[in-house]
Amino acid sequence: QDSGQHEGVIRTETRDGVGVIRLNRPKALNALNYDTMVAVVDAAEAWERDESISAIVLTGSEKAFAAGADIKEMSSKSYTEMYQSDWFAQWQRLTQVRLPIVAAVNGYALGGGCELAMMCDIIVAGEGAKFGQPEINLGVIPGMGGSQRLTRAVGKAKAMDMILTARNIGADEAERAGLVSRVVADDAVVDTALQIADTIAQKSRPAAMLAKEAVGAAFETPLAQGLTFERRVFHSLFATEDQKEGMAAFAERRDPTFKNR
Ligand code: CAA
Repeated sequence: QDSGQHEGVIRTETRDGVGVIRLNRPKALNALNYDTMVAVVDAAEAWERDESISAIVLTGSEKAFAAGADIKEMSSKSYTEMYQSDWFAQWQRLTQVRLPIVAAVNGYALGGGCELAMMCDIIVAGEGAKFGQPEINLGVIPGMGGSQRLTRAVGKAKAMDMILTARNIGADEAERAGLVSRVVADDAVVDTALQIADTIAQKSRPAAMLAKEAVGAAFETPLAQGLTFERRVFHSLFATEDQKEGMAAFAERRDPTFKNR
C-alpha cells in the first residue's frame, strides 16, 4: 500500500505483511551500484524493525534480476579505494536481516546479481533465468560471496566450472544443482514469490525468523554445535503464545491464528 522510491534505484511497496523491493535501474539491467546497495539494505532493515512486515520479496525486471555489480562505477577505482571503503561489505547487512527474503529472478542474475539472489533465503526462478559468475571475464573474481555461497549451494565441481569459465547456467540446471528453490513460468515468478512470502507471513513471525536463523547456522557452525543451537531455539519457542496456539489448533483440528504475525 505505501510505496517509496529511493532516489529511483529501487521501488518498494508493502502488501499484507510482505515488503517488496524491486530493483529499478532498467537501463543498466539493474547493475548494483553503491546507491542500490544502500537502498536495498536500508529498506530490508527498516522492515525487520517493523513488526507488521514478516517477509520480503526482492525482484528485478523481466530482462534482468541484476546483471552484476556496476562495472562502470568500479572500473577506474584503485586498490586503495576498494580496500579502504571495503567495497561490497555493506551487503553483509542484508544477510544479517532476520526476516525471510524470497528472490524472484527473471532474466540475468550474473555476478553480483547471482550473489544477491544467493543472499536471499528462497530463490524462485523463471524458466528463462540465467545464473552466472562472469567476473573472470573482467579480470577479477566474485566479490559479493560467489566463491563461497555458490560453492556451498552447488558444490565444488559446478562452482569451479562457473567461476573459472564464466559459463552461465539456465534455470533448470540451477534447480538440479540446488541453487534455486523452484522454477516456474517467467510470467509467474513474481506472483509465486509473493505467494511464498504471504505463506510465510501467515506463520508465527518469531518462529519464521528463528527457522531462518537455524538453517543459516548450518552454514556457519559444526554439526554438533548447530544441532544444539537448533534444540535450544526449539525449546525457546515454547515461551511463545504462538506455540501454544499452533499446537492447540492441531489438537482441535482447526487452522491456527498466530498472534505474532
Ligand atoms: N555494470 C554496469 N552496466 C551494465 C552492467 C553491469 N554489470 N550490465 C549491463 N550494463 C549496462 C550496459 O553497459 C548497457 O548500458 P549502455 O546502454 O549504456 O551501453 C546496458 O546495461 C544494457 O546492457 P547490454 O547492452 O550489454 O545488454 P545485452 O542484452 O546486450 O547483454 C548482458 C546483457 C549479457 C547481461 C551484458 O549486459 C553483460 O554481460 N553484462 C555484464 C555482466 C557481468 O559481467 N556481470 C558481473 C559484474 S562484476 C561483479 O558483479 C562483481 C561481483 O562479484 C560483485
